[in-house]
Amino acid sequence: MKALRVHDTSGPRGLRIDDVPVPEPRNGEALVAIRAAALNRRDVFITQGLYPNLTFPTTLGSDGCGTLIAATGDCAASAGDDVVIDPMLDWGADARVWDAAGSSILGMPRDGTFAQYVTVPACNVYPKPRGLSPEAAATIPLAGLTAYRALVTRGGVRSGETVLITGVGGGVQTFVLLFAKRLGARTIVTSGSDEKLERAKAMGADLGFNYATTPDWQKRARAAGPIDLAVDSSGGDTPAKAIDALRPGGRLAIYGATNGEATMRLFPLFWKHLTIAGTSMGSPSDFAAMLQLFEDGGLQPAIDRVYELGEAAEAFERMAQSEQFGKIVLRVS
Ligand SMILES: NC(=O)c1ccc[n+]([C@@H]2O[C@H](COP(=O)([O-])OP(=O)(O)OC[C@H]3O[C@@H](n4cnc5c(N)ncnc54)[C@H](OP(=O)(O)O)[C@@H]3O)[C@@H](O)[C@H]2O)c1
Repeated sequence: MKALRVHDTSGPRGLRIDDVPVPEPRNGEALVAIRAAALNRRDVFITQGLYPNLTFPTTLGSDGCGTLIAATGDCAASAGDDVVIDPMLDWGADARVWDAAGSSILGMPRDGTFAQYVTVPACNVYPKPRGLSPEAAATIPLAGLTAYRALVTRGGVRSGETVLITGVGGGVQTFVLLFAKRLGARTIVTSGSDEKLERAKAMGADLGFNYATTPDWQKRARAAGPIDLAVDSSGGDTPAKAIDALRPGGRLAIYGATNGEATMRLFPLFWKHLTIAGTSMGSPSDFAAMLQLFEDGGLQPAIDRVYELGEAAEAFERMAQSEQFGKIVLRVS
């Protein structure tokens, strides 16, 4: 079969499509024929050597939608079903936090979804939500899971609240926007691109600021009414601005640091009685609850572009330059 594998840390040029044997599922595993996969920032970081515990060569890819070929053990789908894969492997017994030592993410070190076939634990396979194309469903797993846990499980969003979503063009943040609107929240978004702000408004964002041309956007956001919850992954100076924007008693959920570590003033943190929640990926129950939002109908993920597997280097470059709005899809077969 064809598999897109990373061989070194020279960037997307180090990616190669290799001919490798179809993997054989072990007891308790499933074999899935992948139709479409999707990129995450993690995939780019891996090609750049910016991710821990790298092993080479490895087939990248955490997101996938395909057809279940066979499974043994506990599986929510049957052979022949269209399925999506939960990329969070071995979360552990505690729904509150993953087993940091025993858990991992599909696509490094375990071979991932940028291949014609993948094996995963059978319990990580779920029926594809009805009403979504394979390309749309392929965008959901990692980003949807992370977004759901950040917004709902850790962020505790409630209907009628206002949510600040920083860097809305990001794959995960477009899901935060999608879910926040579905759950009845008012949303304020930021982006470095006016075009992306327009696309976010078309998805239901209520108010938007360009952080590149309006560096004091947090003051304007604050002036537009109390902000209950902020969700961020951009790092750098953004968490401090989000803290500035939040109402007294507000919450900040953080799942990433694309621009590196953050420095923040502690005074507004304790004076405003704020809560900061760190979050990563999500538990099996988060994944099931997230899929249910799509099953309930009407939600469509933001797809930026669809590339063929052979165009992966171009797709990776697009993400490395943060040109995308939403998810970049790879059509596998
Ligand atoms: N902990 C976890 O489980 C987990 C899971 C998924 C992702 N992550 C991390 O979360 C981050 C985002 O992942 P992703 O896959 O969604 O990546 P992505 O699609 O590449 O999104 C990155 C986005 O960051 C935004 N950004 C860049 N500089 C910014 C700034 N100064 N202020 C505000 N926003 C800024 C940009 O938004 P605009 O284009 O709108 O400007 C960009 O689109 C990455 O660091 C990733 O490693 C962590």
